[in-house]
Amino acid sequence: MGIFRFFAKIYLFYPLTDFFLFMSVSTLDIKVTKVAKSRIAELDQSNIQFGKLYSDHMLVAEYEDGAWKSAEIKPFENLSLSPATTFMHYGQAIFEGVKAYKDPEGNPMIFRPYDNMKRMNRSAHRMAMPDVPEELFIDGLRQLIDIDRDWIPTAPDSSLYIRPFMIAVDEFVGVKPAEKFLFIIITSPAGPYYANPVSIFVQDQYVRAFPGGIGFTKAAGNYGMSMYPTMQIRKMGYDQILWTDGFEHKYVQEIGTMNFFVVIGDKAITPDLKGDTILEGVTRDSVIALLREKGVTVEERQISIDEIAEAYKAGQLKEAFGTGTAASIAPIAKLTYHDMLMELPPMTEWKIMNELKKGLSDIRYGLVADTHDWMLKV
Ligand SMILES: Cc1ncc(COP(=O)(O)O)c(C=O)c1O
Repeated sequence: MGIFRFFAKIYLFYPLTDFFLFMSVSTLDIKVTKVAKSRIAELDQSNIQFGKLYSDHMLVAEYEDGAWKSAEIKPFENLSLSPATTFMHYGQAIFEGVKAYKDPEGNPMIFRPYDNMKRMNRSAHRMAMPDVPEELFIDGLRQLIDIDRDWIPTAPDSSLYIRPFMIAVDEFVGVKPAEKFLFIIITSPAGPYYANPVSIFVQDQYVRAFPGGIGFTKAAGNYGMSMYPTMQIRKMGYDQILWTDGFEHKYVQEIGTMNFFVVIGDKAITPDLKGDTILEGVTRDSVIALLREKGVTVEERQISIDEIAEAYKAGQLKEAFGTGTAASIAPIAKLTYHDMLMELPPMTEWKIMNELKKGLSDIRYGLVADTHDWMLKV
């Protein structure tokens, strides 16, 4: 082949490959293979233990050669992977947490999944992983929840927890960004998360996130690194860590798997997201919107543990709570910082959180109009 014809061929071929790559994402067909027999009888609605039981089906999609190649909803089953699979060694792995609810008529609805998709793609970008297109994340999720709709529990405060995740699956132990990925969605019925108000230890020895790091992502490593400090504080009788910044160990960031709010006087204050150290919670955003609608002043700004301690001493620390998909809104009973124990007033005296929690819950269970367009019908 003459040199001119060779280059002409590449020139002609390239737009074509782009076209086929585009086609393979935008028209991705999701194959469906259903279970022969449902395991739904194993679900005891009166005793749901978080993360113990998984629904009948899962979605698995494969990414290779720069495109999502296949997607299938199939019976929940173990994966078979080489021990050399890259994410097992280097942690190129990200995940999301979403929930589906049933309205009073029994229609399934998913809470703000577009926000989780956007956050997943922010995590993917930082972790050198491919974007998950809407055709896969949203359409796949809808189909999966539709098929497993009977797994959405209807007992009070119950929901179906949805775990989308992506892992790098090159069979290669060399350290390099992977080229093959799996995107998977599994789901698991969930009851109320924390039975009692939580006890929090303010951590100023270990650090969760630094500027320039991955604190704003839901990368697996953020959670792996928290296990040892969490184990230590559990031995001391606390439930969760409130992380402080990595430079001065002074400004509070977030709790285990929740964003953090305090009510000082009549203002709600939550750490801002200006840096890249705090996960942008979907519940946090919803809570801020609902509080502002109620006329509560919400300040998104840096807040130091000293400011919280001063407010406590002055009798102005009125409420404190965490917000997150798993726990929804979790009231805090106590905050311990060094040898200072800050005990919050009895929850019956709280003016903000109780109403807020009910307001959010009513939207999720379709008991009030969804004026924010947060609920996606399946
Ligand atoms: C570290 C961290 N912060 C905050 C949150 C709360 O985020 P969301 O409300 O989107 O669940 C989570 C849970 O997803 C989390 O893992």
